[in-house]
Amino acid sequence: MDRSERQDFFREVVALAPMAKGGNLPYRRLCREFGAERTCSEMILADKLVRGGERPLLRHHASEDAFGIQLAGKRPEVMADAAQMAVEHGARFVDLNFGCPIDLVVRKGAGAALLRKPAKLAAVVAAVREATDLPLVVKIRLGYSSEKLNCVTVARRAVEAGADAVVVHGRTRAQRYRHSARWDLIDQVAREVDVPVIGNGDIYTPWDLELRRRETGVRSFLVARGALIKPWIFRELATGEAWIPTVAERWAVLRRFVDFALEYFGDDERGLVRVERFFVWHMGFWHRWRPWTVADHAAHQPESLIQARAPQVDGDGDEALLASADEAVHDRVFRRVLDRDFPTA
Ligand SMILES: Cc1cc2nc3c(=O)[nH]c(=O)nc-3n(C[C@H](O)[C@H](O)[C@H](O)COP(=O)(O)O)c2cc1C
Repeated sequence: MDRSERQDFFREVVALAPMAKGGNLPYRRLCREFGAERTCSEMILADKLVRGGERPLLRHHASEDAFGIQLAGKRPEVMADAAQMAVEHGARFVDLNFGCPIDLVVRKGAGAALLRKPAKLAAVVAAVREATDLPLVVKIRLGYSSEKLNCVTVARRAVEAGADAVVVHGRTRAQRYRHSARWDLIDQVAREVDVPVIGNGDIYTPWDLELRRRETGVRSFLVARGALIKPWIFRELATGEAWIPTVAERWAVLRRFVDFALEYFGDDERGLVRVERFFVWHMGFWHRWRPWTVADHAAHQPESLIQARAPQVDGDGDEALLASADEAVHDRVFRRVLDRDFPTA
């Protein structure tokens, strides 16, 4: 692939974000089915990968025809070797994680720590560029802290070193999830670099996407929590219309995930334990779904739609069950999905 083809790979796409745990293979498969145009592995620590660990994370499903592998690390030669392994495992692109805020990673000088060292970050990008001619995207934040919003500089350095696209998550490392994403700054990066910029932060509804398209020059988008709450967000973003599923349709989506998870983890005793563990983890997001309307959207900051406790759904019907924040209820939901004990029409 030449450079312009590699850049085109990231142009005008709506992608599922790389997510530890949430981006497990069965869930990615579900999102792909709903229209996610790019899927990505969970974050893989390059140091561990080259020492023989993390292997299951390299796998993808056949339906993921534009699957990438996300690497984190700070040593250029190790990152290059890890990228080579991604190529061997059939990845269609490589994503370098320079946004990871977690202490364990940052303390080692990787993830968002590299936002403070643009020259080192560029050396990693250059080494990976040398190792593969797959499309290469770097994922950054606005900066390490709000005193140092250096995303434009970092993006430029990454592009000079060979990145084909830049994902900008519109928050700083220090902010974690506390504030709404700054799309004005994401837009600024999009205007300053001549490769596709993929905007990331707080897209939950088709109206969020419409707003960002209208108000910014950003044309590609990455969705994380919105996809965890409703994997069908990709259908909504493709059509521009909200999809309000019936209760039966929601049960069917949950069953679809269980089918994919059983296929992946196995339907023996050991597999079932893992399927249940993932299902219950996902319920922590799924239960927050509410039939948001364009009026809700107009009345709230997108972030508050999800950060605020989702309104209670009263009653003892399935609607209330699926909307419950109670973990004991999540277990019950899992049993019902597993036993196919739910309405189908
Ligand atoms: C459960 C979870 C796991 C995540 N894991 C990763 C990861 O492994 N690599 C990464 O680059 N970002 C990770 N992120 C961050 C997301 O990719 C994304 O940048 C962030 O959630 C903002 O997008 P959103 O507002 O659509 O959620 C994770 C987010 C969540 C919610």
